[in-house]
Amino acid sequence: MKHRGKDGRAPTAVQMHQRIIILGFMGSGKTTVARELARQLEGTHVDLDSFIFDREGRSAAEIIKEDGEHQFREVETLALRDVLQNSEARVIALGGGTWTIPANRTLIALHDCATVWLDAPFELCWTRISNTQTDRPLAPNHQTARARYDSRRADYSLAQQRVEVNESDTAETLASQILSIT
Ligand code: S3P
Repeated sequence: MKHRGKDGRAPTAVQMHQRIIILGFMGSGKTTVARELARQLEGTHVDLDSFIFDREGRSAAEIIKEDGEHQFREVETLALRDVLQNSEARVIALGGGTWTIPANRTLIALHDCATVWLDAPFELCWTRISNTQTDRPLAPNHQTARARYDSRRADYSLAQQRVEVNESDTAETLASQILSIT
């Protein structure tokens, strides 16, 4: 695991009061790392996809398949705004595409959050995507997922912190790593 600040500078310390936003591609481990991070911080976490499911009564995948991605992004931004404004959670796990929407990055910046990119290699993400029951309509096959992964990296690199994820890393080690740079 390695980390660096954006622009290659030494990482900016996450302030104690700041909420931590976990972002990265589908299958990078956002949900499990956010849960573990909150446990280590003795706080709570919110998983944005779960929040959307609780609020809408439909999963992200169902909304995308029934209403289209554009409509899903509107629902997602409203959900993110709600969480940022009203939740006490110390850690927020985004969906894989949330951070790629400029308006969402602006919202997050307005709320003074620390942002951490879980940078997992594509093949690790793909193995996890293809081995879980979670329906991911935006990663229907290897080629489409790979193209989406490549096109998103520039956006992900705008996060304040980058944590490299390897196959052998556990949620515990990754959460500890995040806390050590905070
Ligand atoms: C998406 C990722 C999903 C979910 C939706 C769209 C994306 O979340 O929000 O299917 O655009 O990458 P996970 O990253 O938790 O799979």
